[in-house]
Amino acid sequence: MRFGRFDDDTREYVIDRPDTPLPWINYLGCEDYFGIISNTAGGYSFYRDARLRRLTRYRYNNVPPDVGGRYLYLRDRDSGDAWSPSWQPMRSDLDGYRCRHGLGYTVIGSRRAGIEAETLYLVPLGETLEVWRARITNHRDGTAQLSLFSAVEFCLWDAWDDATNFQRNLSTGEVEVEDGVIYHKTEYRERRDHFAYFACSADLAGFDTQREAFLGPYQGWDRPLAVERGRSSGSIAHGWAPCGSHHVELTLEPGEARDVVFVLGYAENPREAKFDPPGSQTIDKTRVRPVVERHLRPEAVDTAWQRLRDHWDGLLGSLQVTTPVEHVDRMVNVWNAYQCMVTFNLSRSASSFESGIGRGMGFRDSNQDLLGFVHMIPDKARERILDIAATQLPSGGAYHQYQPLTKRGNDAIGSGFNDDPLWLVLAVAAYVKETGDLDILDGPVPYDNRPGSESPLHDHLHRCLRYTLDRLGPHGLPLIGRADWNDCLNLNAFSDTPGESFQTTENREGGVAESVFIAGLFVAAAAELADLDERLGRDDAAAAWREAQQAMHAAVRSHGWDGAWFLRAYDHDGGPVGSARNEEGRIFVEPQGMCVLAGIGLDDGTADTALASVAEHLATPHGIMLVQPAYSRYHVELGEISSYPPGYKENASIFCHTNPWVVIAETRVGNGDRALDYYLRISPSAREDLSEQHRCEPYVHAQTIAGRDAPTHGEAKNSWLTGTAAWTYVAVTQWILGLRPDHDGLRVDPCLPSGWDGYRATRRFRGATYDIAVRAPAGGRGRVGHLVVDGHRVAGNLVPLAPAGTHVTVEAEVETDAP
Ligand code: BGC
Ligand code: NOJ
Repeated sequence: MRFGRFDDDTREYVIDRPDTPLPWINYLGCEDYFGIISNTAGGYSFYRDARLRRLTRYRYNNVPPDVGGRYLYLRDRDSGDAWSPSWQPMRSDLDGYRCRHGLGYTVIGSRRAGIEAETLYLVPLGETLEVWRARITNHRDGTAQLSLFSAVEFCLWDAWDDATNFQRNLSTGEVEVEDGVIYHKTEYRERRDHFAYFACSADLAGFDTQREAFLGPYQGWDRPLAVERGRSSGSIAHGWAPCGSHHVELTLEPGEARDVVFVLGYAENPREAKFDPPGSQTIDKTRVRPVVERHLRPEAVDTAWQRLRDHWDGLLGSLQVTTPVEHVDRMVNVWNAYQCMVTFNLSRSASSFESGIGRGMGFRDSNQDLLGFVHMIPDKARERILDIAATQLPSGGAYHQYQPLTKRGNDAIGSGFNDDPLWLVLAVAAYVKETGDLDILDGPVPYDNRPGSESPLHDHLHRCLRYTLDRLGPHGLPLIGRADWNDCLNLNAFSDTPGESFQTTENREGGVAESVFIAGLFVAAAAELADLDERLGRDDAAAAWREAQQAMHAAVRSHGWDGAWFLRAYDHDGGPVGSARNEEGRIFVEPQGMCVLAGIGLDDGTADTALASVAEHLATPHGIMLVQPAYSRYHVELGEISSYPPGYKENASIFCHTNPWVVIAETRVGNGDRALDYYLRISPSAREDLSEQHRCEPYVHAQTIAGRDAPTHGEAKNSWLTGTAAWTYVAVTQWILGLRPDHDGLRVDPCLPSGWDGYRATRRFRGATYDIAVRAPAGGRGRVGHLVVDGHRVAGNLVPLAPAGTHVTVEAEVETDAP
């Protein structure tokens, strides 16, 4: 069953009932000011850092769920009837309800007793504020006397402290109200020079800023006293819980509509100009007043919305496709690309599953995310690469995470995830192929952000690979360290203490645990670095990397092959993990995907065998499971993976991030049918009909879908902020459709399913626009052997670079007998 539908023309997902299985969210903001917003107006906002500059309060894991939001209440002054036009928090019966999640904005509308309310929420580009435009229409025959209340609860900035440190923070809250604008200024008296504000375009009948005054004792957001009695109390918060609520009285004639605009924002003052008059404790509002006034104007909302749409059209315009499958089109053209941008903006910080106080930016996460957005925002990708590389350690190793505000490595987690550095090579290679900007490799970048340690980026990349080669185990395979891509495969942790971190604990030293996955990743990364070195004219280095690549390839063939699939690892004592010799955890997906993707086993049939084993042992209708059989009990020698009940998370769920690796692997062995099939199994759009079972949003990928061993097989969790977004985008666009940026041009190397007769695409690449038509007259099978570029035949499948600003037509034909 569905809870809504895709509107492909407006690029919106339209939800037509409020009680979705989980809150289905969207993101507001794409620069410095962000918010999450659910289909019932739940969510919160923050400035840059979801933990340290949280503007509004949200209660994770609350009952009922999704409490704390951007709430409006309507009250009929004649009948006393009151309701939430966004359903939550009052969960009132509504005659009509519709939520449209669009690109960077959300519109929630409903009707009750002849009153229609539709609210548009967005963050204007270039601003650190959000606008809510409520449009109230009277469809009754008679005049409607209405009260409209707004409500937010302020967070006292540091979301962690806000949720734990009550002995202090119930005494610190402070506000000001001036000209109907509510200012939240907790801690402004001392070291903060920022404050929040909440303004309304209409004349006020009243306001509240003390939560308990607005709600009433023992009352919740679902039944605020002020709304119940139709009157605000003009409360000023001193300590306790500051909130912001405006009360507007509206008299609407039949057919009349009225717009009321609310602006919630963040502002900073220069340290020396915090107070007005100087020496007082009153916020100096000279800078913020004009901003507020500008955005309260209804015309400003329309302009901001149009600019936002143009912005997204521009980004998404870098690749648009028309294929025979609607799920491919809408995910590639809109939602998958959008999700990739959201991972750029948010990393893993704030979603329904990431509380915004947990993790910094992952080194490996950020590098992989880049693969999915580099073509849309190459300049920002460049900056991101330099930020990431600057946290690298002189050993070549990496802090597992860094903090977005300081851009420093995170000491608490430290280093020792031995796959981490290799992802940087993949990210830089993707960036250079997209942009041709080889200069980035010469740029000086520090190690561990230490002044004086700067060396060219290519030196960083060399150290990334050396880091692996300096840490080989007895089989010539890379030592795994604390974990590799699979954070939960902790072969040196041996943890028997409850609560101890699996990732940062190494209770046994001297182990020889090796990772076949890292070996595969190394092979892929070494090939990329060899290519880059060649382009820099460093032929010796290139040759050395090719040699190292072959040696690793050989080590995998000799010691990383289990007979019918690639082994996962060797444990601390040198025993196999992910082998037919194991009782549980006999086959893992990660090495099958990564090794074949890297080209291992393509020449001798082992790739085909490994992929046949994936199909046989790991594939389910809901996607490919991470491991089988699931671990049925805790294995101290394996760590967190066996801490999860069977079928969940790393213990044999469909860990979606790994599925696109297998999709790419299938294209490498030429199996377009299986590639598309696997792609569609986890495609949120293709799973839309299963919404009751899938439960997460049908427009974005989730990190995990419960595996066959779980009682809830098919149920997704951890939507939005996942590496699945980038890799799925890469798999479908670069490998199934085969539009692959390369150093000397754009490759058109599709591996199509047999039923396809072709597809069309428009791709912006290094400033030129390529209109590409791929034809597959005999069905998708086969490869492209030659191209016709602007009418001229070009052998092979590489479209040569065209000058920036030009328009190029490319025709390609899939031939069954092509090489
Ligand atoms: C999660 C991983 C995560 C790790 C570290 C595990 O429980 O499954 O995805 O990276 O914890 O926080
Ligand atoms: C989520 C983490 O963000 C990612 O880095 C990791 O690879 C996967 N979990 C698998 O454990």
